[in-house]
Amino acid sequence: MASGSGSNFEAVAKSIECGNLNAKIAVLIHNKPDIQAIERARKRNIPTVFLDHRNYPTREDLDRAIVAALQAHQVECVVMAGWMRVITQVLIDAFVDRVINIHPSLLPSFPGIRSIEQALAAKVKITGCTVHLVSLEVDSGPILVQSAVPVLPEDTAETLHARIQIQEHIILPQAIEILAQRLFHL
Ligand code: GAR
Repeated sequence: MASGSGSNFEAVAKSIECGNLNAKIAVLIHNKPDIQAIERARKRNIPTVFLDHRNYPTREDLDRAIVAALQAHQVECVVMAGWMRVITQVLIDAFVDRVINIHPSLLPSFPGIRSIEQALAAKVKITGCTVHLVSLEVDSGPILVQSAVPVLPEDTAETLHARIQIQEHIILPQAIEILAQRLFHL
């Protein structure tokens, strides 16, 4: 599930393509039109499903549509790779302990939006990224993998995010592998 550029989606796809991750991306679900993630999926012949959140009166209604699309594509695990909508119990209940999220901070520090700006404002010397199992509270749930990234004195939100993303692209495939081992005893 993606709402943006899809560089994390691409990292997972490449990890599969080079044999580092034994998985299959069944479908890309996106809630915004014209995002780069769509092209990344299409060039790999991965189906895409556009679910515009503005068409659903409640978050639960959107999640019911997401669950239907995931089930239609026989998805076993759900990866929120830059998904910028709050999810509900509807999705969590449909995929118990099978939904993971990547977040650009060392959780539980700086949950929610603008995490990188939050880290810069707090003047922390180290931040990073986290992949965790999703629970109802935003950016919370058992942590699977984290990676630390130093904050440099000259960092802007853009330069810091770029270095965090290098680590995200490493830990997201690792976390999927860990989840698969747990679920399927590989
Ligand atoms: C990533 O940095 C991810 O951690 C963040 O959105 C970016 C998506 O990048 N997610 C969140 O902030 C979720 N709370 P991408 O579209 O290039 O993968």
